[in-house]
Amino acid sequence: MKAAALRSSWSLSADKAIDDRIILSSDVADLPAIEAPDILAVLAIARPEPWIETLTKAVCDGSFVVPRFILDGVTFPEIKRFLSQLLSSDSRSDTALAKEIRNALRDDLLHLTAHCGELTGAKRFHFRFFTDIPNTRCSFHVDVTPPGAPTTALIRVYCGARTQYVHPDNLTSWEDFHAWEYLRKRQVLAVWNARERHDAAEEMRAAARLSRLDARPDFLHHPDEVHTVPQNAIIACKFVDTQFVRDCVHVRARAARGWIHRSPMSGAPRCVVTINATNTNSH
Ligand SMILES: [Fe+2]
Repeated sequence: MKAAALRSSWSLSADKAIDDRIILSSDVADLPAIEAPDILAVLAIARPEPWIETLTKAVCDGSFVVPRFILDGVTFPEIKRFLSQLLSSDSRSDTALAKEIRNALRDDLLHLTAHCGELTGAKRFHFRFFTDIPNTRCSFHVDVTPPGAPTTALIRVYCGARTQYVHPDNLTSWEDFHAWEYLRKRQVLAVWNARERHDAAEEMRAAARLSRLDARPDFLHHPDEVHTVPQNAIIACKFVDTQFVRDCVHVRARAARGWIHRSPMSGAPRCVVTINATNTNSH
């Protein structure tokens, strides 16, 4: 089916706002619109729920902390077991939250996982869940999937500083973006290597180069035109098959189009889940 026909087959909610490739919606039922090949992200606002307010308070005051968990190639039952253990009454993370809040969080995470499975046909997932204080480690990027895996992913930021993104129309070119991202990764590595060698002067120089890249991303026509995901949004977005972005020289730009976003570098602590498929054929 052609992209336009596939797009028109979704009955999007009336108050949507549509960019060419990024959809803003007030209805989570619009999330499957991400299946159209030319759509990079669907930002659908979920209805407010009291348990998320309670979770937000606990994350903000530091009483609910989840280390960065990354489960790779796991099935739905394995994620369910993991979450039951993580959010059970005898785990460290339970002390700040009442049982019904933990159960609501677990059920929502599982609902998102199931939805990712419906959207991609996948049986195995890459599942990341954590709380974090915004920092400068991450800047604009596209996330990647294993070669041949579905590229649709789901992200939910339950609370805290909201994810930022840019419109594709603002890009000078996809090649420019991937070159900038590659250069940035090299500078992050340079800072890290200098620190390992206890070379303070080189670390400062590399950090300064990194700051310049972050301050003026030169792949954007208008570097100040950065958008913020709406509060309480569930994000369906496109990652990029890793085989198309090995490095800036070998990038296959047409295939390497995904949702360009970044975590905020400052603001309130966040609670985030990211789920993508690792393979449709593994069981
Ligand atoms: Fe990301």
